[in-house]
Amino acid sequence: MADKSKTSENTEVSEAQIAVHWKEEEYFKPSKKFTEQANVQDPKIRERFSLKHFPDCFKEYADMLTWFQPYKTVLDTNNPPFWKWFVGGKLNASYNCVDRHLAQYRDKAALIFVGEPEEDPPVALTYQELYIRVNEMAALLRDYCGLKAGDRVTLHLPMTVELPITMLACARLGVIHSQVFGGFSGQACGTRIQDSGSHVLITMDAYWRAGKLLDHKINADIAVQTAKDEGQPVDKVLVWQRYPGKYSSPTPMVKGRDFFVNELLAQYRGQLVEPVPMDAEAPLFLMYTSGSTGKPKGCQHRTGGYLAYVTGTCKYIQDIHPSDTYWCMADIGWITGHSYIVYGPLALAATSVIYEGVPTHPDAGRPWRIAVRLGVNIFHTSPTAIRALRKSGPDEPKKYAYHFKHMTTVGEPIEPEAWRWYYDAVGKREAVIVDTWWQTETGGFLCSTIPGIDPMKPGSAGPGVPGIHPVIYDDNGEELQAGCGRAGNICIRNPWPGIMQTIWGDPERFVKTYYSRYTKDPKSKDWHDWPYVAGDGAMQAADGYFRILGRIDDVINVSGHRLGTKEIESACLTITEVAEAAVVPVADDIKGRVPEVYIALKPGFEGSPEVINRIIKANEDIIGKFARPKHVYIVPDMPKTRSGKIMRRVLASISNRRDVGDVTTLANPAVVEEIRTLVQGKEAVISKEAVPDDIAKFGQNE
Ligand code: WT7
Repeated sequence: MADKSKTSENTEVSEAQIAVHWKEEEYFKPSKKFTEQANVQDPKIRERFSLKHFPDCFKEYADMLTWFQPYKTVLDTNNPPFWKWFVGGKLNASYNCVDRHLAQYRDKAALIFVGEPEEDPPVALTYQELYIRVNEMAALLRDYCGLKAGDRVTLHLPMTVELPITMLACARLGVIHSQVFGGFSGQACGTRIQDSGSHVLITMDAYWRAGKLLDHKINADIAVQTAKDEGQPVDKVLVWQRYPGKYSSPTPMVKGRDFFVNELLAQYRGQLVEPVPMDAEAPLFLMYTSGSTGKPKGCQHRTGGYLAYVTGTCKYIQDIHPSDTYWCMADIGWITGHSYIVYGPLALAATSVIYEGVPTHPDAGRPWRIAVRLGVNIFHTSPTAIRALRKSGPDEPKKYAYHFKHMTTVGEPIEPEAWRWYYDAVGKREAVIVDTWWQTETGGFLCSTIPGIDPMKPGSAGPGVPGIHPVIYDDNGEELQAGCGRAGNICIRNPWPGIMQTIWGDPERFVKTYYSRYTKDPKSKDWHDWPYVAGDGAMQAADGYFRILGRIDDVINVSGHRLGTKEIESACLTITEVAEAAVVPVADDIKGRVPEVYIALKPGFEGSPEVINRIIKANEDIIGKFARPKHVYIVPDMPKTRSGKIMRRVLASISNRRDVGDVTTLANPAVVEEIRTLVQGKEAVISKEAVPDDIAKFGQNE
């Protein structure tokens, strides 16, 4: 692309770079009170982490850890884009999160568990107690299950302290944990067991959700069966009891395969297990996430770089001090919980709160009562939770005398109105807010303001965090300048320690998905030639702040959880009558986006509520209840191009009440009006609100 002006003249403006117009929001400054106590007060921090100092700047994070053997090389770039961090170093994540705090913080609460039933008092676990429990569990995993460094274990645990205890016990042995979000179905868990090659599944009998004690053990039976059908035998299922000593599930235990963890632990009372010194590059865990194909990707995170990165960002961006009581309301089953409930906060000797249930149970005052009771001063949640709490209890926060110094929003773009309620009502205008943009793949934050230094701007994540250098490319690989008013594909110029190592078992897909698009030279050994492609649309304002617009691939962000459209479509296709399925994202007041499903039936079949129910159930069974489509429409035919491709873009416009545009070139233009009438009724309903960027662009790659 030698001649820029010519390129832009001759190229049709793609939808990835359509101009986005909104009003610039005003800045909010952190209070003096916050700034004076902040971990980062040096305005030169970004200079310290500038590309001039790359990669050595990241030693600052590695130095926050305790190493059994010091590393020799900060960054090895010999095999792009498979970067290696802190090469030659040895450490143990469990030691760093537990043992090393005993001298100073033995009796301080490491974790506080809050069960959903409000009458159950919170339970605190000191660092000493956590140490004992992690050691006993590690002894059991090693001696009863025969697990050793490098083995994989699948966890399908709900939000209780047994989850971090199990994770840290694995880490102590160098066993790679793969926690599957508890809300995933047994089948979804089973396919992840198969992909990771786990022989052991660790689960819990039951947990509370929205006032119900759910049977969770049943999912283990389905998971083991699914894994077996796919060729992966599971020999042991370890079952924690939600109420130790009592089995809370109606699903029978399978003799010789299922064991109660608390019964087995009796044999390991008081046993200590030496933390295994692991290579910095040894995998610490897998975390599966959805992509644009049907098969979830096992993001493989390393021990040294990952732990250094989450510890550093927890200290600088979350502003965690050991004296803080920190509550992140996310689920540990997602990356947010791994990085910012377990590993980061515990590495910093903080007190980290774990809440089992839904935020609005039994009412929208619950989070604020928990905050008062535990003295929470740092609070972390998602736009979906903020919208839900605002809707059901806008005036609740002021009834409770808690004080947050710091709050985080993560997972989805936050509307400036929701941001302002968070700031005014929840934060009482005292708390600083960070809007942190990042991904399962990235281990930790990519964009955010530095809380004690940068002013906040509602709706914008902010600049790159220290050491992260984002760039926006248009579809031709040209850089879009800050303030140019156009959106493009956000990438990161440089490697950083938190980035995943690879996709478990599929290095080619790793390169293809995250690096191939903007690599100038696939043979290059120079990291400058390997920008990381995040898969999000974004634009950068003149002040350098990034506004994230949403996914540019076939991923739907439901309440901050990624769902691949292909995964949903495949689930629909398991129903015999279904010939074709197309899934589109629909804007939702609370959840951000929700999936809607269009179905064409095979000839000779009729649509009925019964078929629709089976399609919905297939999604719940194959993926999980959170994947439940908002609507299922049975249509006479799919809108298609002449070459036979389904035009999801047209369906997305109908679902979102947008103008469908020119459809005359379709193979079957008449069906568009039929579908529109089915969804919207006789009169066309066209929303006057601005089209969200991800919806405007949805299906453009087809
Ligand atoms: C996708 C990653 C990272 C933890 C939670 C989600 C979206 C994430 C923000 C934000 C706007 C955001 C992006 C991203 N996203 N944070 N602050 N503002 N969008 O992890 O499931 O891997 O999803 O969530 O689209 O790509 P994930």
